[in-house]
Amino acid sequence: MTKRIVVTGGAGYIGSHVCVELLASGRDILIIDNFSNSHPEAIARIEEIGERNVEVLEADLADASQANSIVERVKAFRADGAIHLAGLKAVGESVVQPARYYQTNIGSALTLLQALEAAGAKSLVFSSSATVYGELNDNPVTEEGRTGATNPYGRTKLYIEEILKDVASADGAWGIVNLRYFNPVGAHSSGRIGEDPNDIPNNLFPFIAQVAVGRREKLSIFGNDYPTRDGTGVRDYIHVVDLAKGHVAALDYLDKDNRGAIDVNLGAGKGYSVLESVAAFKRASNRDIPYEIAPRREGDIAEIYADASKAKKLFGWTAEKDIDAMCADHWRWQRENPEGYRS
Ligand code: UD1
Repeated sequence: MTKRIVVTGGAGYIGSHVCVELLASGRDILIIDNFSNSHPEAIARIEEIGERNVEVLEADLADASQANSIVERVKAFRADGAIHLAGLKAVGESVVQPARYYQTNIGSALTLLQALEAAGAKSLVFSSSATVYGELNDNPVTEEGRTGATNPYGRTKLYIEEILKDVASADGAWGIVNLRYFNPVGAHSSGRIGEDPNDIPNNLFPFIAQVAVGRREKLSIFGNDYPTRDGTGVRDYIHVVDLAKGHVAALDYLDKDNRGAIDVNLGAGKGYSVLESVAAFKRASNRDIPYEIAPRREGDIAEIYADASKAKKLFGWTAEKDIDAMCADHWRWQRENPEGYRS
């Protein structure tokens, strides 16, 4: 049984919610994070919600000089498995600094594999992305869809998936789940943990939330001439707590002695446009959200949403929270922590 779990990137937006659900499932965790895009305060909040202490190793998985001490710590923790979320994730930045993205994301995955091998732990859940599908498939997208990421960030996800498949075919003791996330939004209903972008948010929901709270003047909507129902881009938004529960469901699946490597979509299976999302956030927050129509963002696709039936079939998992809950929870977090963890 995967009782003792290493969570890389556990202080981040998705990682913090995953840690809370792991604690709720009765598991013990070791968070490995370098806090490059996360805040140590998130750890205190995880412990507060989970009413338990967690182990933390502040370290950089991509730094070769730290690999030995990471391996030793994972062994000492007596890990049974891991959830790997650490990595860089800004699409635009990855186009400008591709080598840094490959080195960081792929290097981190390899160090974690080395540590798990040393600990004799052969269960791994990897944080992949729907971005691996590019624009090649009809909606809803199944896991059998064609893959073809359109930028270095997306390719790091795709290449790590491939590496993990090689590892699983070389050694039948490995059980690996590549979770292909659609668009995680929202926050824990306590309002204590949530997304805290370092810089100007790249993604839609954190941007809308900062406009609603008055940190930014207006939203730019990237294009209203897409072939969608209102011309704006359509995405499959999934509540981050549902997403986090999907990780626990994946570990439970591996605990049933399922081995090999599989790809599984985590999405709500429903698409919302940018304008629909703005309207929902407006309802939830009761704040005005001024916007302007701006040119399309390079690399954006018109519409993508998941076929989420594989997760249901294999894990018995489905997303439960609707767009109103996503907006209400995202707003609570933003309102109560207007400057994020620095508030
Ligand atoms: C983006 C990344 C994707 C990554 C995911 C999670 C790009 C091109 N894709 O997905 O690789 O896995 O985040 O981090 O960056 N929008 C606006 N105004 C904004 C921001 C977004 O109109 O200020 C629109 C976009 O055009 C899109 C939708 O909102 O139609 C969602 O955008 P976003 O939240 O950035 O997610 P993705 O682009 O789907």
